[in-house]
Amino acid sequence: MTEAQAQFPDLKDRTVLITGGGSGIGAALVEGFAQQGAKVAFIDIAEEPSKALALRLSTQSAHPVVFYHADLRDVGAIRSTVAAVESDLGAIRVLVNNAAWDDRHDIDTTTEDYWDNSQAINLKQVFFVSQAAAPGMRAAGGGAIVNFSSIVFKMNPPQLSAYASAKAGVIGLTKSLAGRLGPENIRVNAILPGMVVTERQMELWLTEEGIAKTVERQCLKHVLKAEDMVGPTLFLASASSGSITAQTLIVDGGLL
Ligand SMILES: NC(=O)c1ccc[n+]([C@@H]2O[C@H](COP(=O)([O-])OP(=O)(O)OC[C@H]3O[C@@H](n4cnc5c(N)ncnc54)[C@H](O)[C@@H]3O)[C@@H](O)[C@H]2O)c1
Repeated sequence: MTEAQAQFPDLKDRTVLITGGGSGIGAALVEGFAQQGAKVAFIDIAEEPSKALALRLSTQSAHPVVFYHADLRDVGAIRSTVAAVESDLGAIRVLVNNAAWDDRHDIDTTTEDYWDNSQAINLKQVFFVSQAAAPGMRAAGGGAIVNFSSIVFKMNPPQLSAYASAKAGVIGLTKSLAGRLGPENIRVNAILPGMVVTERQMELWLTEEGIAKTVERQCLKHVLKAEDMVGPTLFLASASSGSITAQTLIVDGGLL
């Protein structure tokens, strides 16, 4: 559905870090920021698609798009990777916390390890990536953090208690970080996507029938794609939203 993307001149030459940028929504965000002329770095655990994306975009962007391999569940790896991004590309002025893992599980069979692993990738790392990037942003005069939550926790999803808890937590974290970092000119907002049809979602969870049913419940009758998340993220990252912080933006086509 996305048509020509608006340009946000303040994003040109800005260092932007996107987590989980190797596929799905993250890959669309990497491409969207690269098209703004930003210096884009992304972290992912999936080596092959990430390398291919970085290679493809680097040939057509103003700056090389740089992939950093790391497992975001490892706080030490987060710290060393953020330090490497800063050393290679300069202070991170925009951080998009996009990585997640929306596995389904049942309450009766969920173990403590499963729960901890889900929180590690869906919530804990959002804090520790932000913590690692904040000093550089502060020293550079400010920045913007955009956290990806989800509308799903509002919908009583029976098989997603760990993921839904984490995604609700992302909103609490967004508001707390906004309060702490606002005086340092760092804005923190969250995006709550609705049903966004990506390759992984199609492979694992979605059916054509299910997609049609959800679109029927949307005010806007088109299927949401990863590219539809790019404009709202650019806006929240750019000076165009310079007085907006601690907010949540639902991007779901008006789901009823
Ligand atoms: N697709 C949707 O319908 C939808 C709906 C609501 C919210 N969201 C949110 O939007 C964001 C992106 O969604 P998506 O569907 O593109 O997700 P996805 O699962 O397709 O992609 C997430 C990315 O994170 C990476 N990743 C996973 N675990 C990692 C780890 N331990 N370390 C480093 N990287 C890791 C994956 O390799 C992948 O590239 C997520 O935060 C998700 O919760 C998506």
